Amino acid sequence: MTSSGLPQNAGPDGARVVAMLRELAELTGDEAGAQRVAWTDVWQTARAFLREQLRELPVTIRTDTAGNQWARLPGGGSGTVIIGSHLDSVPDGGWLDGAYGVMCAVEVLRTLAARGPLPCTVALVEWADEEGARFGHSLFGSSAVAGMLNVADVRELADGSGQRLGEVVTEHGVRLDDLDEARQEIHGARAYLEAHIEQGPVLEREGLPIGAVSGTVGVERHRVTFRGQTAHSGSTPMDMRRDAFLAAAATALAVRDSAVRHRGVGTVGAVSLRPCIVTAVAGEAVILVDQRHPDGGALTAMLGEAHRASTEAANAEGCTVSWEPVFRARPQPFADELVNVVREVCTEFTGQGRVLPSWALHDATQMAGVVPTAMLFTSSTKGISHAREEDTPEEHLRLGVEAFYRTVSHVIARTSAGAGSAG
Ligand code: GLV
Ligand code: MN
Ligand code: MN
Repeated sequence: MTSSGLPQNAGPDGARVVAMLRELAELTGDEAGAQRVAWTDVWQTARAFLREQLRELPVTIRTDTAGNQWARLPGGGSGTVIIGSHLDSVPDGGWLDGAYGVMCAVEVLRTLAARGPLPCTVALVEWADEEGARFGHSLFGSSAVAGMLNVADVRELADGSGQRLGEVVTEHGVRLDDLDEARQEIHGARAYLEAHIEQGPVLEREGLPIGAVSGTVGVERHRVTFRGQTAHSGSTPMDMRRDAFLAAAATALAVRDSAVRHRGVGTVGAVSLRPCIVTAVAGEAVILVDQRHPDGGALTAMLGEAHRASTEAANAEGCTVSWEPVFRARPQPFADELVNVVREVCTEFTGQGRVLPSWALHDATQMAGVVPTAMLFTSSTKGISHAREEDTPEEHLRLGVEAFYRTVSHVIARTSAGAGSAG
């Protein structure tokens, strides 16, 4: 037995990961789904749950200036292998998005701690606000650690009730003025590895439980505001209206058409109207537009098309339109050498080393810019995510734990042998 209370040489226990996830879902969800939105009390409950899972392990736990939680299991040599994901969810979200990767990382740490001395440090990270569900800016904590977060761009972002990001994150212990200090957390990092559910249909369609991720696609996210004239729904003749909603709706259709043309994706997932009553033509409509593509050139073309469509729609309805960037990420390939490790592990477990891109963002997107990075996906049932129906067959989740553990073990061995070092 070791200090963690585990018999030596025990492998990772996938069933324990599933049990932790079910307990977390019970604790932080309701009948509508997961409610672990970042910068809320429920999210803090999830983070306390994580600390509880780590309590018996010989790790040091700290929170950095950006609000990320780190648990370090020290090893003999220099360098660190980082593993992790996020606990925050979208509202009415799924039980696995992010939480799966964090609980996989807990189980990997537990298994490594039981195995005895490590040749390098292994750090678990639980990233703050991956989803951007409240303020629209995804990857908050990992952006800060990667040196990619411009405080001036985010401080004044407002949530649906008008609260400012700067004030809200401060209440949760973030020190916006000292955000750069968080960059020290990856000093000496040799690799970043993340397990996650696919959130799309590819693996399920191909009958595969797991796969390796080649990188994440590019994202352009904007807030688009149309202004017309609020007017009475009954007494305003149709040819005298300046309906901001109609201009927004026409733009939403153009975003869809442009995505289809370029084989990308485009979403208008949020709209708010003023005054938002049935007896008035909307004088103001604000939409959030999210466009994604693996190719940076195609993404730029999609953005240009959406811009032009919004101007035409605004002109047609007698409105004005303005665009503000909320978040963007370039297409981000992962480190070939590490992707190959994941692919080989997938082949060992399933006979097939499927490599696929991620259309969802991940904290790995930001890490890949500063540390060699790779991800392992497990399948997603019907490809559904960001919804309470999100699910993955339990045997795939368990296999993913074992495959992730093997991946981490290989990367630790390579790192210690001097291969794959960077960062
Ligand atoms: C988050 O899950 C995103 O892909 O935006
Ligand atoms: Mn996620
Ligand atoms: Mn998500």
